[in-house]
Amino acid sequence: MSTQDIPEENLPSEQDAGHAAVAEADAKDPFADPGLPPHEHRIQDIDERAAKRSERTVALLFTLSMVATVAFIASFVAFPVDKIVYIFPFGRISALNFSLGLTLGIALFCIGAGAVHWARTLMSDVEIADERHPIEATPEVKAKVMDDFRQGAKESGFGRRKLIRNTMFGALTLVPLSGLVLLRDLGPLPEDKLRHTLWSKGKLLVNQNTNEPLRPSDVRVGSLTFCKPEGLEEHDHDFQTQIAKAALMVVRIKPDDIKDKQQREWAHEGIVAYSKICTHVGCPISLYEQQTHHVLCPCHQSTFDLSDGARVIFGPAGHALPQLRIGVNEEGYLEALGDFEEPVGPAFWERG
Ligand code: FES
Repeated sequence: MSTQDIPEENLPSEQDAGHAAVAEADAKDPFADPGLPPHEHRIQDIDERAAKRSERTVALLFTLSMVATVAFIASFVAFPVDKIVYIFPFGRISALNFSLGLTLGIALFCIGAGAVHWARTLMSDVEIADERHPIEATPEVKAKVMDDFRQGAKESGFGRRKLIRNTMFGALTLVPLSGLVLLRDLGPLPEDKLRHTLWSKGKLLVNQNTNEPLRPSDVRVGSLTFCKPEGLEEHDHDFQTQIAKAALMVVRIKPDDIKDKQQREWAHEGIVAYSKICTHVGCPISLYEQQTHHVLCPCHQSTFDLSDGARVIFGPAGHALPQLRIGVNEEGYLEALGDFEEPVGPAFWERG
């Protein structure tokens, strides 16, 4: 049957033919690339004076960043920590914090704004379409990437626009100085403070619960007493710092049960004093098993044998608890005969 034999209303119209063509194209490539819009030149691409203006703007922003960094350092030195000023709309605030925040903010903002302005007005803005390719690039593709990179570097004007390049290097070099200056706030170096505690010859052992100096008769077999050095009070501003190093536990062991010779010599009538700070990562030890004279650190279960030089018998601690040599003074109170002879706490401090 020819088309002449088909009634006219049953033949496909022109519109139907167009739809069919689109459907056929969609069937072939449903994600056809619509292509790039026509490229529009920026004023800086066609007018060298406008390009120069942009160049000066970028350089100005980088220079402002440098000035702000210098101002940051100057305010760190100039403003005392406790100086309070009134600044609308914030009210009364620290002059140092305000000036540090303001100057560092300006320094970082100007670097960012300079980089954005440079990219938007002076670097090449030619749209590039690139085909997707396998993840592993062929040598040819790698060579092309390098070519593109060199081309991009050339078009950015990085080598040609020396004013931008130099001011950008200046700003990027200066801004990290802000961080270096802040290191001053970490305070002086600890030097050998971590190696010493408040214990010294003649310091009385004070019961941490009763705040009374300890007599040998106060320490019974099977009891565990926590002590602090005489003169250290809870309201002292550095109490936590000092007690974290000087905390002591005192137990009485029958002299015959003490296995270690030095331990016996450093004890008084079976009363031994050991650092309470675990040598693993520094938790305070608090559990005492009176039959075995084992003490247990609750953090990771390191166990020390107080009848045998407080050596580690279980757990991750690296070495024995330091012992404090003790004696009794003329008034009958327990006293230290010196400081610990090794650093207390984690073994890290012994490696210095
Ligand atoms: S801190 Fe004591 S076992 Fe880890």
